[in-house]
Amino acid sequence: MYRHQRLITSGKSFLLATLLFGMLAPKMAYASESADSRSAIWLSDGQRSAILAEMRQFLTASQTILQAALAEDMAEVEQSARAVGLQQARGVPAELRAKLPEGFVKLGPQVHIGFEEIADEAVTMGDSQVILQRLAEVQKLCIQCHAVYRLERE
Ligand code: HEC
Repeated sequence: MYRHQRLITSGKSFLLATLLFGMLAPKMAYASESADSRSAIWLSDGQRSAILAEMRQFLTASQTILQAALAEDMAEVEQSARAVGLQQARGVPAELRAKLPEGFVKLGPQVHIGFEEIADEAVTMGDSQVILQRLAEVQKLCIQCHAVYRLERE
């Protein structure tokens, strides 16, 4: 009888433990995933929005270039790559530039140069394999920077 009781009790605590674990485990996993070791860059609301808008342009350009290269549409490759090329890099205001860490300032222009080279390839040899290769290289820079920095509001 006593043994039987114990079995029921331990059955109940097992059930309770399972329930609790089920409720807590996702939170624990979430907590460890959200531990963010990237360096924060502190910006005004406007500066942060401007950089994020540029980022979305990068993603749009990358997708358009990929699709246009596959379709051998070199005019489209050139146009979308040029839009995020060196011209865009020159537009960064001095007070924003001053807040950006050195690593960020180094990687940014490399991306613009990479896109500029894609645009040049499109109007010269127009080899889609070369364009895809360059795009793959540019995207390594995206990944490199994203691994290190995050943007925060001041
Ligand atoms: C010099 C550093 C750097 C480079 C290079 C870079 N990014 Fe970013 N990107 C960032 C940072 C920092 C954020 C904000 C991340 C955060 O705060 O969590 C970001 C955010 C983004 C976002 C989110 C935009 C939004 O509206 O929230 C996209 C999309 C993006 N990047 C695409 C790209 C692509 C595509 C490339 C390469 C062609 C690229 N980025 C290159 C630093 C960079």
